[in-house]
Amino acid sequence: MDGSAKLSATDILSLHGIEVVYPNGTRALNETTCQFADGELTVLLGPSGAGKSTLLRTLNMLTRPTSGTIMASGLGTLKTAGDIRAHRRDTAMIFQQHQLIGRMSALRNVLVSRLGRHSVWSSMIGFSMAERHLALESLNRVGLFDKALIRCDSLSGGQQQRVGIARALTQEPKLILADEPIASLDPASSNRVMTILRDVCREDRIPVIVSLHQLDFAKAYADRIIGLSGGEIVFDGPPETLTDNALFRIYGAQAETSN
Ligand SMILES: Nc1ncnc2c1ncn2[C@@H]1O[C@H](COP(=O)(O)OP(=O)(O)OP(=O)(O)O)[C@@H](O)[C@H]1O
Ligand SMILES: [Mg+2]
Repeated sequence: MDGSAKLSATDILSLHGIEVVYPNGTRALNETTCQFADGELTVLLGPSGAGKSTLLRTLNMLTRPTSGTIMASGLGTLKTAGDIRAHRRDTAMIFQQHQLIGRMSALRNVLVSRLGRHSVWSSMIGFSMAERHLALESLNRVGLFDKALIRCDSLSGGQQQRVGIARALTQEPKLILADEPIASLDPASSNRVMTILRDVCREDRIPVIVSLHQLDFAKAYADRIIGLSGGEIVFDGPPETLTDNALFRIYGAQAETSN
């Protein structure tokens, strides 16, 4: 195999030899090569500092790799600023703290995701009927149609995270990345959020990549688990193959407490 990323028919994204060294010299990812296929929910597991957020941000090119190549379906190897912009437009990101604007309605927050598809001129005119329809449909998919006009700061944490998912869906993404989306939610809200992410992944046939600290949720919802430790992939496989040995590779001595 030569030194660049390759895509199979079902792969949406392919990384080859990706390394990330931050300006302060921290090596956060070592020589990472992997592919992400449509319709597959991947959970990234690993102790704090393992490189999960770095890998997610690199998949979106928010963090630029120090070396290696990334290839996206329909765009090829991401090289130019235009390719990277197009890739970001196709990639939705969901965060632990949802990053919603509290004083705006759920619908308004969801529509914000369309701004990347507007020219400066058209964004002054406003959103089209089709975009409003799409935003309402997305809120409906996450069970929040009736909350469309409610201010986000009066919604519960779980509801706010579902608005975050509706915002991601309204972007019409080819790829969804979620960095610890259930970290501050109770078990019932966490299950609801993970069920929605899994359904979106299956129904829309797109890859969904989620970082989690909760092993039980990873096992329950993932099609594939990638275990990171010290910036390296030390496990990559379906949840049923995540043995105690694999957990030890990922978490080391912490494995017993995280199991
Ligand atoms: N902007 C940055 N500048 C310098 N070092 C960074 C930066 N972001 C992360 N790091 C370092 O890179 C390594 C990987 O961090 P990363 O945030 O990717 O880990 P993580 O697995 O997401 O951890 P957590 O579970 O705590 O969120 C850590 O050593 C971290 O301190
Ligand atoms: Mg992180």
